Amino acid sequence: MATTAEQGAKTYGNVGDDLITIEAASRYYYIGQENEVRAVDGVTWKIPRGRFLALRGRSGSGKTTLLNLVGGLDQATEGRLFFEGRDMTAMGDRELTKLRRHEMGFIFQTFSLLPVLSAFENVELSMRIAGLGGRARRARTRELLELVGLGERMTHRPFELSGGEQQRVSIARALANEPSLLIADEPTGALDSVTGLEIMMLFRRITDEGGISIAMATHDPALSQFTDDTLLMEDGRLSRAEGPLDFDLPDLVQHIEFDHGLHGDEDLDENGDPVEGAAAEADEAEAVEPAADAAGDDEPPAPANDSEFRPPAQ
Ligand SMILES: Nc1ncnc2c1ncn2[C@@H]1O[C@H](COP(=O)(O)OP(=O)(O)OP(=O)(O)O)[C@@H](O)[C@H]1O
Ligand SMILES: [Mg+2]
Repeated sequence: MATTAEQGAKTYGNVGDDLITIEAASRYYYIGQENEVRAVDGVTWKIPRGRFLALRGRSGSGKTTLLNLVGGLDQATEGRLFFEGRDMTAMGDRELTKLRRHEMGFIFQTFSLLPVLSAFENVELSMRIAGLGGRARRARTRELLELVGLGERMTHRPFELSGGEQQRVSIARALANEPSLLIADEPTGALDSVTGLEIMMLFRRITDEGGISIAMATHDPALSQFTDDTLLMEDGRLSRAEGPLDFDLPDLVQHIEFDHGLHGDEDLDENGDPVEGAAAEADEAEAVEPAADAAGDDEPPAPANDSEFRPPAQ
């Protein structure tokens, strides 16, 4: 049983270590009744650190139900799930909420942004809830919005953004509390194909450069070009695994470029490589102050690594 201190601590394992382990997990509805549904049926699966994995399958095959178990949004009827060896199935609501808040970020087909808040405020909100100090919070919000290519759209509200831009805001929001795992349920389902590919390229960078794991549900077979592994779901079971694919990106993708690098355009050296430490300083100099924010000096000091994308995964 994990101690309270262990539950609260952020641990950064190595890329490839098991982050989530699922042992014969099932989720049944209407158990024992005529209309019993085996939405997830005896699934065994591992999600390693720093890998981008996809679940592909028809509507009703159980993808969302399985992702909800992984994300601690739902409890397995049978079997066990572990987050870094900690048994999620033995956790109470408070412990699960804490795990979700600190270790997981969620991205949905419908974006789920708050319509009255700007892009900036939408991203900032979960850091407010987590109690991060104002200065650190604003710096990280700007950094994340620049990371997803929305440096010029921070004050826009969701209705003033395209679908792809709204999804980028929700990705920035999902990254806010430095999660170990992003759970993305049909993240490209409401987007055109080029915009969907841009989101996939962003996911690839998040895993490769941020060391974050991504578990994604999709209908689209084309997206497995971007993943490290794609599994097929059928009638609640993971029926087939495809290994990492050896592929050439389609021509289309070669022409897609992001407005900003991981650390922002201005922070690249003459070779185009990121200059370490420059992003946070530049951000502080050109602070965007949302009207609603009245950060006081009494707020807790920010952690030293706050303005970084996340600590190195090694
Ligand atoms: N709360 C619930 N009560 C009863 N049955 C449910 C519930 N949620 C899901 N199901 C059933 O579980 C099965 C799996 O649903 P799930 O939403 O996981 O599928 P999915 O693969 O995500 O489908 P889609 O691609 O359409 O999103 C379906 O048959 C669905 O009807
Ligand atoms: Mg679904």
